[in-house]
Amino acid sequence: MTDIIGLANSKGGVAKTTSCLAIGTCLAELGYSTLLMDLDHQANLSDDVERGDEDYTITDLFEDPKFDLNQCVYPAMSQGKEIPNLDVVPADITLATTARSAERHIHRHQILSDGIKKLKKNYDFILIDCRPAIDLSIECAFLVADLLIVPVDMDRRATKGILDLFETVKEVKRVEDFNYLLVKTKVDTRNKIMLRSTDDRIEQLGLKAAKAQARTTELYKQATDNKVPVTHFAPNSRAHDDYKAITNEILDEMKIKGPRFEVEVVV
Ligand SMILES: Nc1ncnc2c1ncn2[C@@H]1O[C@H](COP(=O)(O)OP(=O)(O)OP(=O)(O)O)[C@@H](O)[C@H]1O
Ligand SMILES: [Mg+2]
Repeated sequence: MTDIIGLANSKGGVAKTTSCLAIGTCLAELGYSTLLMDLDHQANLSDDVERGDEDYTITDLFEDPKFDLNQCVYPAMSQGKEIPNLDVVPADITLATTARSAERHIHRHQILSDGIKKLKKNYDFILIDCRPAIDLSIECAFLVADLLIVPVDMDRRATKGILDLFETVKEVKRVEDFNYLLVKTKVDTRNKIMLRSTDDRIEQLGLKAAKAQARTTELYKQATDNKVPVTHFAPNSRAHDDYKAITNEILDEMKIKGPRFEVEVVV
């Protein structure tokens, strides 16, 4: 069975793509067969795994819902080498307009789930990186997601649209409840005021957040600059440790029995 995780927040720059890639590489490292799916026309995730310039992209599926998604599955790369257990469905700029034109299809919300059902490879996980907006492609991701990860950075605006986002998820899924987890990112543990303020806001909104969090470090930017996932760029760093802990917590949240990292949770 494949478990599908969507990463979404309508605020930009909160570390959705960074988290998608880091959690993806951590799952792959544990031996889980993992597929990353880029649903952002900015194609940052695709670029990060050296797949920013492919013949077939997720646009092909939204253009023609009968398109065979297997044709745009590529091994994820780091410094010219395939990353074991990690594949990617890339995006490119054309997704911005195509998702809009797909609105005309009667079963438009099923486009992604129907495409995923046809995948030949048996993935343990599919991780979907959403763009900072809510459009048809993102609603399709909400429909298929078993768990929604919402990265929030230490900025008041990061929690602003979450309740609206959740209303859309419930509407698309036609449910009153669904599984989600907020993940705090760019956490500066020295800045107690902002930390407390973020925690207070999360509590006031009655939202559930992971105990593990991604602390702030320049390593993320350096890794992107070198086109290497941060977990590979700095394997013995706090960045890798933080995402190992976040990955463990996600596996617990999804009640997955199987391998875990040995790592202390930083609270
Ligand atoms: N824990 C962290 N500490 C410091 N910088 C970080 C951290 N996580 C991510 N960043 C940096 O923050 C920036 C935005 O990250 P990212 O692209 O993942 O955000 P995003 O939510 O996907 O953005 P968008 O909404 O545009 O898709 C990047 O430069 C990234 O390197
Ligand atoms: Mg992004």
